[in-house]
Amino acid sequence: MASTLRFNGRVVLVTGAGGGLGRAYALAFAERGASVVVNDLGGDFTGVGKGSLAADKVVEEIRRKGGKAVANYDSVEEGEKIVKTALDAFGRIDIVINNAGILRDRSFSRISDEDWDKIQRVHLRGSFLVTRAAWDHMKKQKFGRIIMTSSASGIYGNFGQANYCAAKLGLLGLSNCLAVEGKKNNIHCNTIAPTAGSRMTQSILPEDLVEALKPDYVAPLVLWLCHESCEENGGLFEVGAGWIGKLRWERSLGALVRQRTQPMTPEAVKANWTKICDFDNATKPKSIQESIGSIVEALNKINSGGEVSANPTSRATSATTSEFARAIGHKFPPLYSSYAELDTIMYALGVGASIKEPKDMKFIYEGSSDFSCLPTFGVILAQKSIMNGGLAEIPGLSINLAKILHGEQYLELYKPIPRAGKLRCEAIVADILDKGSGLVILVDVYTYSGEELICYNQFSIFVVGSGGSGGKRTSDKAKAAVAIPNRPPDAVLTDTTSLNQAALYRLSGDWNPLHIDPNFASLAGFDKPILHGLCTFGFSARHVLQQFADNDVSRFKAIKVRFAKPVYPGQTLQTEMWKEGNRIHFQTKVQETGGIVISNAYVDLVPASAISAKTPSEGAGLQSTLVFEEIGRRLQGIGEEVVKKVRAVFEWHITKGENTAAKWTIDLKTGSGKVYQGPAKGSADVTITLSDEDFMEVVLGKLDPQKAVFSGRLKARGNILLSQKLQMILKDYAKL
Ligand code: NAI
Repeated sequence: MASTLRFNGRVVLVTGAGGGLGRAYALAFAERGASVVVNDLGGDFTGVGKGSLAADKVVEEIRRKGGKAVANYDSVEEGEKIVKTALDAFGRIDIVINNAGILRDRSFSRISDEDWDKIQRVHLRGSFLVTRAAWDHMKKQKFGRIIMTSSASGIYGNFGQANYCAAKLGLLGLSNCLAVEGKKNNIHCNTIAPTAGSRMTQSILPEDLVEALKPDYVAPLVLWLCHESCEENGGLFEVGAGWIGKLRWERSLGALVRQRTQPMTPEAVKANWTKICDFDNATKPKSIQESIGSIVEALNKINSGGEVSANPTSRATSATTSEFARAIGHKFPPLYSSYAELDTIMYALGVGASIKEPKDMKFIYEGSSDFSCLPTFGVILAQKSIMNGGLAEIPGLSINLAKILHGEQYLELYKPIPRAGKLRCEAIVADILDKGSGLVILVDVYTYSGEELICYNQFSIFVVGSGGSGGKRTSDKAKAAVAIPNRPPDAVLTDTTSLNQAALYRLSGDWNPLHIDPNFASLAGFDKPILHGLCTFGFSARHVLQQFADNDVSRFKAIKVRFAKPVYPGQTLQTEMWKEGNRIHFQTKVQETGGIVISNAYVDLVPASAISAKTPSEGAGLQSTLVFEEIGRRLQGIGEEVVKKVRAVFEWHITKGENTAAKWTIDLKTGSGKVYQGPAKGSADVTITLSDEDFMEVVLGKLDPQKAVFSGRLKARGNILLSQKLQMILKDYAKL
């Protein structure tokens, strides 16, 4: 049998204990060993009059049964005095039952100020004053149990009781707050909404119900909630006739009725009303943190242009996707690094360039007349910008660096990489995908020489085991791998890596011990140290360049690879290649095993005919190139002023014949603006496509941009109104 709940040594104060529910509580507590203060003003049920009889009778009854009790006849509006009675008589106060109450029912329009105020004063303010007087004593002794008495009228509303309903639900608010504030000091506060026959309900309930619904059927709940072994805190209970039920808040899944770029309208609210009020999959928020969490999540979703879901069944998803929203767009600190010919030569040797192959001399001997940096050196600097702990610092993601794999790599060059120089890398989290078995973080890295964009990398970093929370699986930002043609390869080149290959390659900057330290490799689950994936990537790219571009680095435009399997130093790499126009598809195998180590890969080459001997970069030979460079120069002094007037990012696609010959970005949104080659780093407000010739006509004032739009010579996407500002930029700052 469960042990009896006793209250020996506890001092209980029950307000309004001269009759009805209060009396039942006082008797029950006393019977179980508590010392009881029986408070009652002794007036009528509307709060008129006063007297000591009611309280005295209950005290007498308790004492007659051998219990301990004292009377107090003050109104609850004098909370201090009532608590003082407890302290004077018993030296402490442990439990407060805020029970005293009156009624002044009137239909709403007939409620007088006095009737309104009196009800608030007795129920709400009275409970506040008594509880406040006891609070510090409870805090000090690190124990307290408080009951607030609400009512079904307050919870659900009841005709003619506006004053009472307001006060009774006000008590729930007070209780909720005290539950939060008192928790750390073991002060619990709960609320009951009782139904019992009493003089108060005599006029409302039928006589036999008043008889049947005894206050004794409510008291046991109050006693349990006030026992030291009861952990309940902040609860709300309906109780009567021997039945007890708990209430809680429920919130519908709701609907997102606002979009980032548009104002919120009542029409949108109306259109979503059914969804807003649909309680399927409703949540049951328990705290203000949970409540606000959903609102913040909604804000994140709106800002990232997604949809909101406060659905509890997708709780993990919502939490995770809001974390993604924080991470996407995160910029790593820019990385400046200088490199010399030594570095590019070391890299070339690291990816297998050799004196055995005379055409490789241009990569390994600085005295060669056509000394060049291998295009894939573009990944080396970019990689540095996201290593060095940067990955671990992406907000909203906690990445276990031991669980990351390099999944795929894309590199695009806008001009050949200088043989030596100082470059700046700016990396940004472009997107995050959830592949179920793991997350894929797409990191875009832009590499500049001064303001000129040299190359762009996209690293696809696979974080094993962090997926499965329902995030999106694909992204339009991802540079896709492409399947190889279904026919025997057009060319195959092989190279045997040396046992020192990884030891040599790592000198270019990837110092991960996995590639040299046998102990570290075995911890990671490999028989011996493995070759860097990007080393194999370098070998393969070199094979394509040699086979299809005669080692002419200016023809190397882009490369995409997917890393499929590890390679051990000493194994032979076999690159199988297929030419399809200017795209060379390839896959790389380990000859000894036949295993595919790089799959679904390609290199895009610039057609040999498009290469100008003098200036081999993209945009070479275009008149617009000079204009963009000039705009960039002129902006240097006055950029800030222009930015204030324009506030927009323009991306330009300059065409030559059918093809896009160059992309430029004029960023006049923030700071002092900048002009650079390549697509906009963030998003462009307007993208303008026109031919090199028409661009010059616009600049020279011969072609009106608006007219060029109408005639189809100038195509503008995005906020085309902004193209009106073009005239200003081009005319004022680029006249040549
Ligand atoms: P009751 O009228 O029998 O008891 C209330 C007691 O409070 C009376 O003895 C009265 O003298 C005392 N009191 C009134 N004003 C006071 C003041 N200013 N200071 C000190 N004592 C004062 O009514 P009942 O039914 O026992 O009600 C107890 C509590 O339960 C009340 O707060 C009431 O609003 C609440 N309640 C009762 C329901 C019921 O079905 N009986 C339903 C919902 C709520």
